[in-house]
Amino acid sequence: MKHFAIIPGDGIGKEVIAAGMEVLDAVSQISSFEYDGEYSQIGSDRYLKTGELLTDQDISDLKKKDAIYFGAIGDPRVKPGILEGGILLKMRAVFDQYINLRPVTSWFPLVPLKREVDFDIHFLRENTEDFYMGLGKRFGPSYSDKKNADGSYDVELGVKRESYNMDFKVNAHPTADDDYSIEIGLVSRKGITRWADYAMKYAIARGDDKVTLVDKANVITNNYGMQREIFQQKADEYGLKLEFMFVDAMSMAMIVRPETFGTVAVPNLFGDILTDLGAQLQGGLGMGGSGNINPNGVSMFEPIHGSAPDIAGQGKANPIAAVLAAQMLLENQGFPKEGKMLHDAVRYVLDHNQTTPDLGGKLKTAEVGKAIADFILNQKK
Ligand code: NAI
Ligand code: MG
Repeated sequence: MKHFAIIPGDGIGKEVIAAGMEVLDAVSQISSFEYDGEYSQIGSDRYLKTGELLTDQDISDLKKKDAIYFGAIGDPRVKPGILEGGILLKMRAVFDQYINLRPVTSWFPLVPLKREVDFDIHFLRENTEDFYMGLGKRFGPSYSDKKNADGSYDVELGVKRESYNMDFKVNAHPTADDDYSIEIGLVSRKGITRWADYAMKYAIARGDDKVTLVDKANVITNNYGMQREIFQQKADEYGLKLEFMFVDAMSMAMIVRPETFGTVAVPNLFGDILTDLGAQLQGGLGMGGSGNINPNGVSMFEPIHGSAPDIAGQGKANPIAAVLAAQMLLENQGFPKEGKMLHDAVRYVLDHNQTTPDLGGKLKTAEVGKAIADFILNQKK
């Protein structure tokens, strides 16, 4: 019996999670997969009533679960950044979800490519380090009150992570009087190693014989050079091929030959960009699921889209991204066969035009959810 926390969140998050739950129920009826789902009120309604975002009580409740199934947060009544930072980013940090898994699957003919290509790229984006650490500062006459007697600046920076804290003090001595800004990209051996290890295991579980590592090691030689060394050691250890791709070449290759990639490891900043390119490549926001994974902790699965206030409450939301997030949840929790049932059911409704308006169909969110669930239930016969 698996124990899940269900956080529908805001706007269409509520609608697509309702559809996703109907589908999970269907799977549990015809397979050995059993679960209970405890609903959580985390989101904007509660925040507006009580001021609570992600509380200590929430965290200790969520820690007891096997995984989290999440809709979306975001509400026009709340200033941008508050819910994202206080709930989503905090959750990823507290649970040290250091892998962001983003499958990019060909859902032909929804894909923007003109030819039919069968691709299924699984991006594993490192989610805690690199250039997204908030490790930066501006200094110069417009900013700093700390100019030393010798004309230099002491730029103090600090980083706090699950596995380490670090303080930096940069003594900057510019020869020209100007404003400057730095943003440090930091990686650690432990951070790269655990990510590389997950990537190798993931590739083997998928049946891939290679892992592609995306970087810009020809220019950012230190961070991505160290990354290459560690990935190479891991690839040798697991007997896998390792392919290096520069991120600029990768963005072209994803359009020209997406079918040649399987498991792709990509650092945080480049991963942000490539996975959005991937989202469009597979047919848009309504088709993308995302996993925030800690292989030894509590992982969270969500559609990549937000709360879509422009269509909330109208039954127009495409629930397929949420269903594909449920597929990832099942696979992650050790139910790959059941995950495939969801995948096949999604293929079926697409092929039969049982879709919401964004995909050219006429159905409501709940009707698509029901069509997917019914297809699964019919597999029993
Ligand atoms: P969004 O993803 O909510 O919507 C972008 C556009 O795509 C809208 O026109 C929307 O109607 C459409 N769309 C999105 N999902 C759809 C679906 N399943 N079916 C059909 N159409 C769909 O992004 P937006 O508008 O930038 O943000 C809205 C709110 O969501 C903001 O508060 C934002 O902060 C939040 N957000 C939350 C995320 C999360 O919880 N992980 C991720 C992205 C945004
Ligand atoms: Mg993004």
